[in-house]
Amino acid sequence: MKGVYFLVAFVLFALASTLASASDPSPLQDFCVAINDTNNTYTKYRMFFLSIYAVFVNGKFCKDPKLATPMDFFFSGLNIPGNTSNQLGSKVTPVNVAQILGLNTLGISLARLDFAPYGGLNPPHTHPRATEILVVVEGTLLVGFVTSNPDNRLITKVLYPGDVFVFPIGLIHFQFNVGNTNAVAFAALSSQNPGVITIANAVFGSNPAINPDVLAKAFQLDKNIVNQLQHQFWWDNN
Ligand SMILES: *[C@@H]1O[C@H](CO)[C@@H](O)[C@H](O)[C@H]1NC(C)=O
Ligand SMILES: *[C@@H]1O[C@H](CO)[C@@H](O)[C@H](O)[C@H]1NC(C)=O
Ligand SMILES: *[C@@H]1O[C@H](CO)[C@@H](O)[C@H](O)[C@H]1NC(C)=O
Repeated sequence: MKGVYFLVAFVLFALASTLASASDPSPLQDFCVAINDTNNTYTKYRMFFLSIYAVFVNGKFCKDPKLATPMDFFFSGLNIPGNTSNQLGSKVTPVNVAQILGLNTLGISLARLDFAPYGGLNPPHTHPRATEILVVVEGTLLVGFVTSNPDNRLITKVLYPGDVFVFPIGLIHFQFNVGNTNAVAFAALSSQNPGVITIANAVFGSNPAINPDVLAKAFQLDKNIVNQLQHQFWWDNN
């Protein structure tokens, strides 16, 4: 009987450690500054070489660490407000591996979020690869996320300057300016490449369009409304 308990404990432990490492793997070197130029001969050679063995690289190719410079770890301009003159009244300025090549493999990134006075919206979206922690520095934001099925519980709060809120990995969340001034927030994300799926854009603005019968049934909508939604312009505020 003791043996069975031991086995169960062992399996649970093995499972837990597998789950714990289900995110980006930890880097095995100080850093791996990404090579941005996929057209250079060395990168092409490496890609060709790796493709023979069907290896999928989790991230980007590293440049020789001896060639790393301070610029590989630097970004400037997060003091500049994003342009919120758009249909959502919001702008996300990301600082991830696309802006700082030195973030490659490090599992962290940053964003600045700007919101127009009352009504600026960062619409419901998810980050498939990151948990987000957000701090409001200006204005008043109504924020929230929804838990997965079957509960679909809304966890929501109004945030003021200095307030911090967490959006767990993968869950649908939003931020909405309910104040009469601009709102500004900064967010840290637990991936160098968190990804964004804006729900409305992905569902109604996919390319090519999803069969309207699918969306009519899934969203309990008249097909004409689905058609109308599919012909809207879905702004991407990222
Ligand atoms: C890639 O490199 C080739 C020559 O090596 C050049 O002709 C081509 O314009 C380059 N493409 C891009 C997108 O830079
Ligand atoms: C902000 O975006 C709008 C719409 O694209 C544009 O007309 C305007 O010039 C932009 N403002 C600035 C300061 O870039
Ligand atoms: C990477 O290359 C793209 C396209 O050439 C460029 O727009 C981008 O600014 C580059 N990123 C960095 C961090 O150099």
